[in-house]
Amino acid sequence: MDFPIFHLDVFGNRLLIAAIASLHVVINHMLAVGAAPLIAFLEWRGYATGDERWDRLAYRLLFICFIVTTSLGALTGVGIWLSTSLVNPHAIGSLIRVFFWAWFSEWIVFVTEVALILIYTLSWRTDWARRHKRAHLGLGVALAVASWLTMAVIVAILGFQMDTGVWTVDPGFWTAVLNPLYLPQLFFRTPFALVAAGLFALAVTGRLTRGDPEFRGRAVRTISAWTLLFCVPWLAAAWGYWQAIPARMLDNVSTALTTLAFQQYLDPLRLLIGASLGAVVLACAWGVGAPRRLPSAVLVVPAVLAVWQLAYFERVREFIRKPDIVAAYMYSNALRPADYPLYAQDGLLAHATYASVRAVTGENRIQAGREVFRLACSRCHTTRGVNGIVAKLAGLYGPGAWDPAVLDTYLAGMHNARPFMPPLPGTATERAALADYLIALRHDPAGLDGAQTAGAAGSTR
Ligand code: HEC
Repeated sequence: MDFPIFHLDVFGNRLLIAAIASLHVVINHMLAVGAAPLIAFLEWRGYATGDERWDRLAYRLLFICFIVTTSLGALTGVGIWLSTSLVNPHAIGSLIRVFFWAWFSEWIVFVTEVALILIYTLSWRTDWARRHKRAHLGLGVALAVASWLTMAVIVAILGFQMDTGVWTVDPGFWTAVLNPLYLPQLFFRTPFALVAAGLFALAVTGRLTRGDPEFRGRAVRTISAWTLLFCVPWLAAAWGYWQAIPARMLDNVSTALTTLAFQQYLDPLRLLIGASLGAVVLACAWGVGAPRRLPSAVLVVPAVLAVWQLAYFERVREFIRKPDIVAAYMYSNALRPADYPLYAQDGLLAHATYASVRAVTGENRIQAGREVFRLACSRCHTTRGVNGIVAKLAGLYGPGAWDPAVLDTYLAGMHNARPFMPPLPGTATERAALADYLIALRHDPAGLDGAQTAGAAGSTR
């Protein structure tokens, strides 16, 4: 616990990471990993058929990808590391130790990818590219490989966070990389990216080929066929990935899908997910069968669905890993289960370098409780904002929530009540201080930063 705590008390830390990361994943899968091979394919089509219109369409698609990936894509990529390092530097620190060389190669691959997209795009309309179309196509293929490699490296780390496999007994770089979920997740993401890119291309092709209905029909048919083709491995790999997910994570799926408040909608939601997958497949089949009858507005719908599917998939993937941030190694509260006995003995605060108080005394109970909240709960909860603790407690027990004995019992067994939460670390005294702080919070509109006001309210309860 040798880092300060970063806490956003309205939107919550989770939402900060989720907003940046979801945007990044959508851009990365749709406009980079999946788009590069599609664009190279369309360029090749123009080359093979001698029809310049394929070339023009490919270039226009690339131009959109180029602008978005090198600006918003790159910024959100950096944003993920910034936000995750702020919220959970311990987890990032541990991952860097294990994946040191992977991160190093990721950087090289990423720089290569950026260089390639620059050259591929900016050289497209030069005389050189016109005269050496095959070499230019080679650049497209190289870009496709580099884009995929950036994902292939990162997915090793994501898989490891979910299931560390034998690494806990046989720690090493390769046991970490080849974790049980690495290949299932990579096999799933690769066709998902190819499908998403096809749907993006369909969404804009209607516009890009306006005024040439004959070519529009051909383009829609070709891109629909591309997308439909990759729907097969995508849906098959989704099933394989599901099989590989450990049972303890499957228990979290319903909460991951609906949140606790909306669990009665689980079945309709499952239907909705199934319908959205079906709609994607149907739209592509329509595009193959009767492309000219497919209105441009309809072409946009599957792309919007794919954005939703991608972002939702990431939410569920991130959620089901709870209570761990690195499976069987570190909880989401940045504490390692292995250190829990130490905290039970010495107290959590004694080991919290940046806490404003380092032990519970008669005078500082509320402030100490606030520090325990920051250490043990604030990675996932705010006080009164998103996933706010005051509303959660009230929702659970009604007015009875503010009874110290009720709270104490809850806090001692919270990880049994909701296994997606880690056990509360520390001593019984710290637990009681946390309960006092939570009770005080009820009267304290200033929330987390109002520890002093909360102290006053707490003492008069
Ligand atoms: C790993 C993240 C995480 C941590 C750490 C965490 N929680 Fe939670 N907690 C959640 C999530 C997620 C929910 C449920 C959100 C939802 O779907 O409504 C939740 C729900 C709750 C609820 C309502 C439970 C119910 O059955 O309705 C309470 C009370 C609660 N948390 C208290 C705490 C306290 C106190 C701490 C710190 C000691 C804490 N949590 C730490 C993630 C966490």
